Amino acid sequence: MTPITVIHSFRRGTGKSSIAANLAVLLADGGLRVGLIDANMQSPSLNLFFGIHDIDYRLTINDYLAGRCELRMVATDVTNRIQSPPAGRLLLVPASGETEKILENLRGVYRAETLSEGLATLADELNLDMIVVDTASGLSEETLLTIAIADHVLLLLRPDHQDYYGTGVLIDLAQRLGAPDIRLLVNEVPLNFDAGEVALRVASVFSQPVVAVLHHSESLQLIGSGGLFVRRTPNIPIARALRQIAAELV
Ligand SMILES: Nc1ncnc2c1ncn2[C@@H]1O[C@H](COP(=O)(O)OP(=O)(O)OP(=O)(O)O)[C@@H](O)[C@H]1O
Ligand SMILES: [Mg+2]
Repeated sequence: MTPITVIHSFRRGTGKSSIAANLAVLLADGGLRVGLIDANMQSPSLNLFFGIHDIDYRLTINDYLAGRCELRMVATDVTNRIQSPPAGRLLLVPASGETEKILENLRGVYRAETLSEGLATLADELNLDMIVVDTASGLSEETLLTIAIADHVLLLLRPDHQDYYGTGVLIDLAQRLGAPDIRLLVNEVPLNFDAGEVALRVASVFSQPVVAVLHHSESLQLIGSGGLFVRRTPNIPIARALRQIAAELV
């Protein structure tokens, strides 16, 4: 079975898409065939990291969920769009930015199981070595079903009480769903916080491994969703930390 890594957080804007896109590139750098899935149908963005802006004219995950096509027909090979293309392949399953399709998704016209079922088939059909799923924050049923089939769940949080509360709920749910491996990544930590202290505190509150504590980074903020920080600024601490995380996933 192809391992599935789900990137999730309780709150919006914790850095899920940035981490998912850059992590997928690093995994492909290691020679793997990686499927990168934009399962944040409310706030799609993964296409932007690869310079794809004409997403409305392509098949998207929304079309698969609504029963208009197979998931494999949505996958787009973005390997050669990446600066210094990776040794492996990166196949992106984008989500639609079209208002009608976002509304269609919000109305919930499909069974919540459709996404998790599609991922297993996609892995076989495209001969994938690894799947990385970027999710919508919070507790939707389709995200929980995806967590239920995940081999690794990477939960992002910021050092904030609401994040601590919500992350506790997520860990509880993920454990009940049988998630075998839950790892925490603390992002956007103010520069005057000591990373080691934050890591110890978070690990002791949640009794789960903390894979990284990442400070706020001006360069990452500048790059935003417009590019890949592992290529543009490969030596910033976040890029180095992500290389370590990628190495531990394979
Ligand atoms: N450590 C960091 N330092 C500075 N900016 C960061 C950091 N991490 C992420 N960002 C920025 O925060 C913004 C939100 O990141 P991103 O879109 O990856 O979050 P998200 O969790 O996917 O959001 P959403 O919940 O809306 O999908 C982006 O502009 C990103 O570049
Ligand atoms: Mg996102």
